[in-house]
Amino acid sequence: MKILLVGGGGREHAIASAVKRSPQKPLLYTVMSKKNPGIATLCEDVLIGDEKDAAAIAAFAKENGIDMAFIGPEAPLSAGVSDALWNAGIPAVGPKKDCARIETDKAWARKFIEKHGIDGNPEYAVFTDYEAAAEFIDKLKDVAVKPAGLTGGKGVKVMGDQLPDIAAAKEYTKEVLKGDSVVIEERFIGEEFTLQAFVDGKNLAFCPTAQDHKRAYEGDVGPNTGGMGAYTNAGALLPFLKPEEYETAKRIMKETVAAFPKETGEEFKGILYGQFILTKRGPKLIEYNARFGDPEAMNVLSLLETDMVEIMKAVTEGTLDKLSVEFSKKATVCKYAVPAGYPDDPKKDSEVTVLASGAIADAATGPNSDLIIYYSSVYEKDGKIYTTGSRSIGVVGLADSIADAEKISQDALDNQVKGDLFFRRDIGTADLVQKRIDHMNELNQN
Ligand code: GLY
Repeated sequence: MKILLVGGGGREHAIASAVKRSPQKPLLYTVMSKKNPGIATLCEDVLIGDEKDAAAIAAFAKENGIDMAFIGPEAPLSAGVSDALWNAGIPAVGPKKDCARIETDKAWARKFIEKHGIDGNPEYAVFTDYEAAAEFIDKLKDVAVKPAGLTGGKGVKVMGDQLPDIAAAKEYTKEVLKGDSVVIEERFIGEEFTLQAFVDGKNLAFCPTAQDHKRAYEGDVGPNTGGMGAYTNAGALLPFLKPEEYETAKRIMKETVAAFPKETGEEFKGILYGQFILTKRGPKLIEYNARFGDPEAMNVLSLLETDMVEIMKAVTEGTLDKLSVEFSKKATVCKYAVPAGYPDDPKKDSEVTVLASGAIADAATGPNSDLIIYYSSVYEKDGKIYTTGSRSIGVVGLADSIADAEKISQDALDNQVKGDLFFRRDIGTADLVQKRIDHMNELNQN
């Protein structure tokens, strides 16, 4: 069995390691823009190149006799890499371009959800004209401003956060409108959570819920990032999430999957990532992604007990209802070590060293490990590993409780990972998790 992976970040290292744990002993091939050393050591061959070049990726897959593919990031999905692989006779985990619009076109996504009567949307409208957008901002008063297109998760700005007042919201709207249409939405208040699922077109196999931390610095301050770290609890629920709220989020995602063929003529086959926020009115949708989250993939795939090759077959063949996808009932805390100065002025080409080499994700790591280390945006040169401008190393602790998993991750960051890097000590600590619980209790009382 030969598997092709597209992408070279921490999320893809987690996918690669899960594939290599398969008892079917698959051979792995990867197309990535930079040589991720953790992924490369798991591969028979790698193509260092453009992850969006659908024709070159399909040709590489054909040359190597690939049986199935897994597409990690959003950019190749949006460039039609899944379409090209399916057209070449290679089943792919990762939706075709038309279904990936759920992530790549935020205006389309909101309208799609509305049109199919699915819950979770805020009050919103899409604008190409500034005057009308400004009037709508005045009407809603408390808003989120979103560029309609792909922004790598960094283009959304929210009042009470990056936008201090209505004037700032209008100013940002004006800026977005120079290059894109803009989605103006009612701002939701609550606690965010991520729900990810393997999807075979009809059936969903849900992963444990996770909570990511977007701000760069401790105490949830500083610039937004791709995510500084995430935690999951033992079992599917987060400490602030009730079973009925979890069921609502699952229902919203199931209804979304059922609506794709009606809208696009295509089934969604891949990973659906629901970015929810738990409000006092229940779970609401911030946005969807059409792939695993990064870092959340490192949390949930570290726990995956089911053979990933069987899951990929079921996703591509539409038989997920016949497979039970199981996760170890442990908590995880994943913290990212990122280059000094990240995200605004990251120190590039700076050497990093992982002393705990036995913990680097491979076919031997998984739910029975207590520490798993994933390489993300780093590259190897002459046997040494260097930073790029983005997140460098994901360190996952696994334990019976979030607090114990946090200690494992933090201890490894303090003692096993060396370089001019920083990380958030507070992610997964009992104090921060309690703040999330208190926040929800407070909202529910008012
Ligand atoms: N962790 C957020 C994302 O992957 O989009």
